[in-house]
Amino acid sequence: MNDYPWNKKDLLSLYDLSPEEIVFILDTAEEFKKVSQRKIKKVPALRGKTVVNMFIEPSTRTRISFELAEQRLSADIINMSAEASSLRKGETLLDTVRNIEALQADLIVLRHSATGAPNFLAPRVRCGIINAGDGAHGHPTQALLDIFTIREKFGRIKGLNVSIVGDILHSRVARSDMWGLLKLGANVTFAGPSTLVPREFTRAGVRVCDNLKDALAGADVVNLLRIQHERQRSGFFPSTGEYAKVFGVNRESLKYLNPNALIMHPGPINRDVELSSELADGAQSVILEQVTNGLAVRMAVLFLVAGCLK
Ligand code: CP
Repeated sequence: MNDYPWNKKDLLSLYDLSPEEIVFILDTAEEFKKVSQRKIKKVPALRGKTVVNMFIEPSTRTRISFELAEQRLSADIINMSAEASSLRKGETLLDTVRNIEALQADLIVLRHSATGAPNFLAPRVRCGIINAGDGAHGHPTQALLDIFTIREKFGRIKGLNVSIVGDILHSRVARSDMWGLLKLGANVTFAGPSTLVPREFTRAGVRVCDNLKDALAGADVVNLLRIQHERQRSGFFPSTGEYAKVFGVNRESLKYLNPNALIMHPGPINRDVELSSELADGAQSVILEQVTNGLAVRMAVLFLVAGCLK
C-alpha cells in the first residue's frame, strides 16, 4: 500500500485537501525553509522540469515568490505575460495551455481573474496546475503560508482564535484561510461591513460579526484584508474614510486582542485604511515573515505536485 500523503498533480483549493495533506505540505515547507537559510540556497529537486508562470492578473508577492521558488528548485522557467500573449488576440485559455503543454511544459502556475479557471484546466491537461489565485474563489498557497506562519509562532493551529477582517465577499484569501484553518481546528471569525461579509459563511462553521470589537476580543491572530475596489460593482460602504474609522485596526484595537496576538495581512496593504501603518510595521506584525514563508511553502507545493506528474 502507498501511504505517501500526497498524490495530486494539481493544487487547486484547500477545500479539496485533507487535514493530513495540509500538514504534510507545512512539514515539507519547514524543510525547504532550511534550504533558504543555507549558504547555497539551491537544490536540484526540479532539475529538468519546465514551469510556466501564467499571471493573467497583476501580482507582486505571489509571482516573484513562485519564480524564486522555481529557481531555488533548479527548474527551467518561462514567465508568460497576458499582455504580450495571443490571449489578447482571442485565443482561449485552454488552447493557450494546450500549446504550452505541446512544448513539454510540466507545471503551470496560474493566476486568473475568472473563478474556477484552474479547476477547468486541471482535468483537461497532462501538466500540473497550481492555483496562484482565481477570482474571488481561492488562493491556496497564500492560505498555506498564513497557516505556516501561525503554526510557526504558536506551535499549533487547533483552538486558536483567528479573526479575518475586511472585504470577505470578494476575498479568495478569506475563503482559502477559512478552509485550511477550520480543517486544522482553529476558530474562525469573519468581520466587516455586513454588505461585505455574507452570513452564509456561518454554514461552513465560521462566526460572522459586523462589529470590530467583538471580532477582535480574545483573538490570537487578526488577518486584515484590503477593500478590493477592482472587484466591486457598487458602493458597499459610504467612503474609505468611514471604513477606516469603523473597521480599521489601529493602536486602539490592541486592547481587545490577546497580548501576543499576531497582526497579519496578505498584501498589498492600503496603509491607514484597513490597518494603521504603526501596527503594520509594529512588533506584533508578521507581514514580512508571511512573505518569507511564502517562498518555502511554494517550494514545497512545486516539489510535491511535480512528484505526481505522469
Ligand atoms: N498576497 C498576494 O496574493 O499578493 P500579490 O497579489 O501581490 O501576489
